Amino acid sequence: MNKQLQEMLDNAKNKISEITDANEFKKLEEIRIQFLGKKGPIQEVMQQMRTLTNEQRKEMGQYVNTIKTEISALVDAKKAELEIKIVEEKIASESIDITLPGRIMPKYTGFHPLNQIVRDIEDFFSTMGYQTIQGPEVELDYYNFEAVNIPKNHPARDMQDTFYISPEQLLRTHTSGVQARTLEKADVNNFPIKFISPGKVYRRDDDDATHSHQFMQIEGMYIGENISMAQLRGTLQAFVDHLFGEGRKIRMRPSYFPFVEPGVEVDVSCAKCGGSGCNICKGPGYIEILGAGLVHPQLLEIAGIDSAKYSGFAFGMGPDRVAMLKYGVEDIRNFYTNDLNFLKQFNR
Ligand code: DAH
Repeated sequence: MNKQLQEMLDNAKNKISEITDANEFKKLEEIRIQFLGKKGPIQEVMQQMRTLTNEQRKEMGQYVNTIKTEISALVDAKKAELEIKIVEEKIASESIDITLPGRIMPKYTGFHPLNQIVRDIEDFFSTMGYQTIQGPEVELDYYNFEAVNIPKNHPARDMQDTFYISPEQLLRTHTSGVQARTLEKADVNNFPIKFISPGKVYRRDDDDATHSHQFMQIEGMYIGENISMAQLRGTLQAFVDHLFGEGRKIRMRPSYFPFVEPGVEVDVSCAKCGGSGCNICKGPGYIEILGAGLVHPQLLEIAGIDSAKYSGFAFGMGPDRVAMLKYGVEDIRNFYTNDLNFLKQFNR
């Protein structure tokens, strides 16, 4: 009987060890029934035990039990092994392949031409003692218009078709609101105020070669004592020399902006004809680049600054326009569609 049981155990061990595949779960159950079930070999041995003495039966009974326990432990262990396999197979089939190479990005590492212009202008003005400050693109009607002397119903509002977010909030139409914000916070003990403020502005324009509903501006301001038009002119001439190279003349034409008095538009002489007129400047020999003037006393008063004592100049320019002139770009939309073939030309 011992031998019979030992053979049975070996047989069961073999059969269980042959099972390796997770799909063979059913087969494992069959093996369990085959060896441990009611019609299995163990029951047969039990039958035979009847012929034994009490003593022998007790001993044999214990042996049968250890064999039974061993076989069911083997079955349980195999079951656990198969369950782990099932989970592993599931994980493997559902996992994300992190070895997949990333999308290859185009090899363009230069600055956008507008950012190059802005940086260049910032560099220039910082050597002249101007700070660079930022203002919000989502602006209050108050700073964009009212605090720069454009009250509600003022006709100058028509010059700047506006994207309103609410009756009081808008996308700024120019960077001039930064003047009002800065003056409001200004401390006369820390005068003069000298800053430039570059950023995006928005207008409800139909896009074409010379208009874009989003473009850039750089505001500039200098407030102190005895600041004159002559200083404005000197500053702007130095700026033009820096940006376009020496030899370009500037010209001031009287103009109107509600936040300056007097106000001017500033033109620079054409690179090609130097002022006599040609096809590049379309005739007049000069090309407009910015608006400027002496800060309207009203702006200082609104901010609580004594306009009898302090004065200053301000200017606002469009880097898009400057870039178009400097690089001969004919369509402003090129700056915003970001075609790499266009951008690459400015790689340096
Ligand atoms: N804000 C004006 C515009 O968007 C530009 C401008 C003109 C700014 C004259 C100024 C200035 O600071 O003095 O058309």
